[in-house]
Amino acid sequence: MASITLKNLVKKYDDGFPAVNDVSIEIADGEFVILVGPSGCGKSTLLRMIVGLEDITSGELSIGGRRMNDAAPRERNLAMVFQNYALYPHLSVFENIAFPLRLGKAKATKSEIRSRVTEAASMLELTEHLDRKPANLSGGQRQRVAMGRAIVRRAEAFLFDEPLSNLDAKLRGQMRSEILQLQRRLGTTSVYVTHDQTEAMTLGDRVAVLKRGVLQQLASPRELYEQPLNLFVAGFIGSPSMNFLPATVQGTTLRTPFGDLEIPAEKAAAASGKPVVLMGVRPESFEDAELVQDQVRGHGSTFTARLTHTEWLGNEQYGYLPFEATAEVRSLLAGLARDLDAEELKPQLVVTLDAASRIRGGRDVLLWLDTRRIHLFDPSTGENLTRDAAAGAELTAAAASDRAEELARARQG
Ligand SMILES: Nc1ncnc2c1ncn2[C@@H]1O[C@H](COP(=O)(O)OP(=O)(O)OP(=O)(O)O)[C@@H](O)[C@H]1O
Ligand SMILES: [Mg+2]
Repeated sequence: MASITLKNLVKKYDDGFPAVNDVSIEIADGEFVILVGPSGCGKSTLLRMIVGLEDITSGELSIGGRRMNDAAPRERNLAMVFQNYALYPHLSVFENIAFPLRLGKAKATKSEIRSRVTEAASMLELTEHLDRKPANLSGGQRQRVAMGRAIVRRAEAFLFDEPLSNLDAKLRGQMRSEILQLQRRLGTTSVYVTHDQTEAMTLGDRVAVLKRGVLQQLASPRELYEQPLNLFVAGFIGSPSMNFLPATVQGTTLRTPFGDLEIPAEKAAAASGKPVVLMGVRPESFEDAELVQDQVRGHGSTFTARLTHTEWLGNEQYGYLPFEATAEVRSLLAGLARDLDAEELKPQLVVTLDAASRIRGGRDVLLWLDTRRIHLFDPSTGENLTRDAAAGAELTAAAASDRAEELARARQG
């Protein structure tokens, strides 16, 4: 197991297009790092550069402190798990797992092979399937066979490229938690490519968000969610996604399409000199004002608005409030949606309300907004003007210490 360091990595394909553009990431030994971003942002390219399937145009890659730019894939000793886990149909599960041990340099003795495969199979709960053929296994079991193959090699790291994207939603969830527990148990450094939010948020010690080959932010899931560096990260992380509304700052008052809101002085100060901003606020930062307790109420601001309709989901409900937007704001939202590779961003506020709320569409209602949780973005650069870097760093440090504790526990047991 090893650390992996990417320093100013660049990949230009033959047409000169920088698919990966100056990416630097230090991955600690035993860490689980996720690469996430819209289609075509360079996730697979970056992974393939690490594993040695793609040349590095410039920059430096080291594994366990050794420069590996020019090392052949075999010398890097990394195990790659693909989306199409190519199992050999004519070989048993045992032989499929043992496969890398029968090859080249890694060649092991018969008894060594037996013990390693048995150990991996028991870890993956495949012991009773060892004599079966891949065709007779479920999708999840096949996935585990592919993982077994990576495990027996005792690779320095696991590299995953969307390994679950072929599975149905239920199995995906199940495999996701299996991969997480397995990674924790083995303590193997892992880099995992996905464009699935849930996978990114649940698996990653840290998540690297990429946009057109450029690293936008590298942080724990909570830091990304609570303290996004820019508009792109804010819009990409979270579902339903953050709302963006045009606003102007006057003193500590924020003029929004839903009226004036009093905001904390430090937020207003952060946006000083930027009279026009884009306000970013997550749906769950709103509530039916009637249901907000007095001691909490003071942390926010209330406003009257009319919802078009609500959707009641049992545990919560969504409310929808369209707002007037200038052509400029519309085009800003359209551009952001394009960047995010997402559906159209409508000039509409989505709010999450308590399931008990009696708020319905078509009437004027009083909503409460937790103004501590709003972000103000510079509409021209996308920068989050109100980001609290110290609070963010604290979240990521806490995640790192949780991981260290978990790894230590796993290595003891
Ligand atoms: N062999 C190649 N030759 C030229 N350009 C390539 C090649 N492979 C990838 N690219 C380009 O590099 C960019 C990054 O591609 P990559 O496959 O890394 O994206 P990705 O983030 O994995 O996307 P997806 O989520 O769709 O898998 C894309 O613009 C793609 O067109
Ligand atoms: Mg890809």
